[in-house]
Amino acid sequence: MTRTPLIAGNWKMNGDIPWTRELCTHLAKRSANWPALGGLRAEVAIFPPAVSLAAAAAALQGFPILLGAQNMHEAPSGAFTGEVSGPMLLTAGCQMVILGHSERRQFFGETDAGINRKALAALAVGLKPIVCVGESLDERESGRTHEVVERQLAGGLKGLTVADLKHVVIAYEPVWAIGTGKVATVQQAGDVHRFIRGWISKAHSPEAASRIRILYGGSVKADNAKELLADPDIDGALVGGASLDADQFDRIIRSVPLVS
Ligand code: 13P
Repeated sequence: MTRTPLIAGNWKMNGDIPWTRELCTHLAKRSANWPALGGLRAEVAIFPPAVSLAAAAAALQGFPILLGAQNMHEAPSGAFTGEVSGPMLLTAGCQMVILGHSERRQFFGETDAGINRKALAALAVGLKPIVCVGESLDERESGRTHEVVERQLAGGLKGLTVADLKHVVIAYEPVWAIGTGKVATVQQAGDVHRFIRGWISKAHSPEAASRIRILYGGSVKADNAKELLADPDIDGALVGGASLDADQFDRIIRSVPLVS
């Protein structure tokens, strides 16, 4: 099964609306070179802060760059001060949404059960969720990486059908590699990616496992992307810091292996 690689830029809480317009314009200009590479078949998506989504959508109109949000509430509307719903994200121009990022788990108390409710709600309105999993340094050092990732997958994907999984992306982001400059080795990332695919094969179906895209995230930069993306089980990257720079992000996109 060939999987279309996805290079996703998670801007986190960075950039105001004018800056968003500027970065989108720079990316849109560079996107003209992507098909010219011949055989590059990656999808590209950016995830600006919620307040900037509509401006990003306007700036990206007609360019091959998808748009997503960094979080959403599971209810379509209601008395949830400060929250944003899936239907609202759709009208802002989003096709995707990141769920369960480790920063949301760590700083905002998100749980696997809550992430699961959001994933089901996202799918119900037609947004593609990127469900994030990953272990802390302590969990890795105590040999619990697979156990932690399995718990996050089982909780986060509970009740999703094989048909649902067609629209889901998994991001493996080891917490110790996020924003630290300490990138996982290809062996470390590849091992967990194969573990995730194996788990999906057993818990859901072999077909779903071979189809689902698993991204790596954690200190991905232009100079380490090529090596990571060459692993057959690493189907793309969820990029933080380096996605805030058009040149870096463009170089990461152009690190996707070409189809021969
Ligand atoms: P960095 O690329 O800045 O390490 O962030 C990774 C990340 O958290 C993407 O979601």
